[in-house]
This record gives sequence, structure tokens and C-alpha cells, in this order.
Amino acid sequence: MAVPANAETARHSRRAERTHPGLVGGPIYLDYNATTPVDPRVAEAALPYLTHHFGNPSSGHRYADQPRAALAAARTQVANLICAEPDNVVFTGSGTEADALAIQGAVHAADGRHMISQTTEHPAVLGACATLSRRHGIETTYLPVNAYGLVNPDDLRAALAQPRSLVSIMYSAGRGWSDPADGPQDGAHIAADLHTLLDRAHVPDPYVLAGHSFGGLYMLSFAAQFPDQVAGMVLLASTAPKPGPAQPTNNQSDSFVSRVSALLPAVAHIGAGHLVAQLSYGTLPPRSRDEARANSSTAPHLGSYIEEFLEGSASVHQAASLTDLGGKPLSVHAADRNADDEWQSQQDRLATLSTNSLHRHTDATHASLLEDEADSAAASQAIDDVVAAVRTSQPLPPR
Ligand SMILES: Cc1ncc(COP(=O)(O)O)c(C=O)c1O
Repeated sequence: MAVPANAETARHSRRAERTHPGLVGGPIYLDYNATTPVDPRVAEAALPYLTHHFGNPSSGHRYADQPRAALAAARTQVANLICAEPDNVVFTGSGTEADALAIQGAVHAADGRHMISQTTEHPAVLGACATLSRRHGIETTYLPVNAYGLVNPDDLRAALAQPRSLVSIMYSAGRGWSDPADGPQDGAHIAADLHTLLDRAHVPDPYVLAGHSFGGLYMLSFAAQFPDQVAGMVLLASTAPKPGPAQPTNNQSDSFVSRVSALLPAVAHIGAGHLVAQLSYGTLPPRSRDEARANSSTAPHLGSYIEEFLEGSASVHQAASLTDLGGKPLSVHAADRNADDEWQSQQDRLATLSTNSLHRHTDATHASLLEDEADSAAASQAIDDVVAAVRTSQPLPPR
């Protein structure tokens, strides 16, 4: 067995193992709405039923036994994933077939008279609606969308005034959020992933890195791993790194967090995540606020949020491996409102990482640096200032 020469090589080979064989070598694939690469573990689990256990699961003879058991197990697994009853899970051969079955089936089962959808729906959905109209005389309404691809709820309310209406409107239109990682990631791992992303997207270095809160730790880890590719840095209310070896994770809190993480998918559908998310993003403009709340109230995002804290101890120690940025421009943009002396001195220490640094004290809170219009404008200005200082080789302007 080949033994990796160093930790960097080990990290790269671990990442290569995780990369889907169809995606090795790039380019980056982002079209997961159209289709996703089949997980090799799924392909492996399905293979015996393509090569060996050929029987029709509905048959009464021995060849049906294994396919029937496998189908029942798969149905139960899918049902558990989406908190449904196995009997309510129907497997179809394609997305188009699923749309047709769900839409036409629901309209006929409810004796519907009016079908509502949106103009930008997938052709398979529009086709199912058109069939209802053409062959069954069902009236159809196609609602317009705004510049973000979203339907106006007032238009939908008006259309629903018609009795026996059914609605099919796409869930993810106009949303630009990425999904959480598959599992817990520490700061060094997140920094390495960012590096891969930039590399695969052919974004040339050097980079000006900007990070807020835990994001500051990830940027420090990035600079520690790839020092030659970093030209400047902005730390926005960054969590402070902690020198020394990472503490072993506390088993008690570990199991607490695993228990909470495990609970989230089970309670998300009754709105527990929604309650947590409602407490946040209060100062964003309504559209962004609603989008952020809807997104962060899902079980995977809440689970990922908790996992980030679980990995926090490793991340603060990894970030401390960056001890010197030389004379590269560094803006430490602190959020001083309600901050204690310890916070102030941690931010002071961050500013000592470079001989060309500026420690800005702002009357902002941790969250308002991102969410408040004026505070986030000042944070963006800090980034602009570092970019300008890099481009002109001038010191950072005191503001
Ligand atoms: C909503 C929707 N319906 C149908 C399809 C088409 O799926 P298939 O090619 O499996 O019929 C897609 C694929 O992108 C889809 O997003």
C-alpha cells in the first residue's frame, strides 16, 4: 500500500477518493437540477439486480423473492428520508413520468376543475397541464414570474379563488443557495475545498480572502496552507484562532450534538427548524430575509450549522498555524458593539499578523456586519480597500 509522503498528499488523496469517478479532472459540474451523478455505492447496490436477480418483484415464484425484498427495503429507506409512509412511495422510470402521474393523478383523484402552474415550469409539468386541458377540459392558469423567477403570492391567491383548484409550482426557482457538505468538515478541510474550487474554476491567484465569524478561521487556514496564493485578507468579526494542539472533542457534548443532529430531520417537518430560522436575518430586505429563513430552516442546513460548531475546536487551532502575513494588506474589521475586553484584545492580536494592517473598530454587531445595510456597506468597503491596496501597493487608508 502506498503511504502518502505528507499530510498535504494525504488530504489530496482523501479528496480524490471522494470525487465521483465521472467528475475527476473537471470541469466543475453544477447542474444538479438536471441530473446528479449516481453515487458509486448506489450503483454497486443496484448491480446485482441488473446482472443476477432478474425476476419481476410482483411474480409468485422464487425468482421474485430477492427483487421483492430489495424493492421493499428501498421503498422504506426513501420513505424514512422524506418522513412518508412506504405505501405512499411510487417509483417511476423518469422525471417526466413522475410529473405526469402526480399532476394528472392528483387532479383526477380530487375531481379537480382548475389547474394552476407557472409560465417558467419544466416542460414536463406544462405538458401534463396541457394534457389535462386538451383531453379532460380542465381549465389551466399559468401565473407569471418576476425578475427572480418567483410567483407573486397575491396572483396565486386570486387564482385559487376558483373552486377545486390544484397547484403545481416549482420549489427551488430563483434560489441561489448551495447545499451543505456531506458531513462534518473542519477549517483546514473547508480551506482546501475552496482552493480546489478556485483551481477547477481557473480563477487565477493571488487572492484577497475575506471571512466573517468562523469564515475568518477558514481564511487563516487557507493562508497557512497556500501562503504564496494570498495577497491580502479581510477579517470581519473573525473568531480568534487558538495556538496549541487541538483539544480532543468532549465526548459528552459530542454525543449531545450528534443527538441534536439526528433529531433535526425528524422534527424539521413539524417546523422546529422554522422556529430557529425565524429568529435570524431580521434586518435583511424582505425577499432576501424570507429566502434566507426558508433555506436555513431545513434539516440539512441546521445539521450543518451544528456540525460547524462541533468542528470549531479543530478549526480555531488550525487557523493558529498562520503566524505571519508579512507586509500583506490585512484589514481587521471588528464588531465592537457589546464586545468585552477579551474580544478587543483578540482582534488586536489578529491585526499583528501583518505589518500592513488596519484594525477598524465599528459600532456594529456580529450579525449586522452582514445583514444591516450601512454596516455591510462598511464591511464591503473594507474588502475594496484591501483589493485597492494590493493593486496599488499602497498602505491601507485609515477611515
Ligand atoms: C421537474 C422536472 N420534471 C421532469 C424532468 C425530466 O426528467 P426526465 O428526463 O427523467 O424525464 C426534470 C429534469 O430536469 C425536472 O426537473
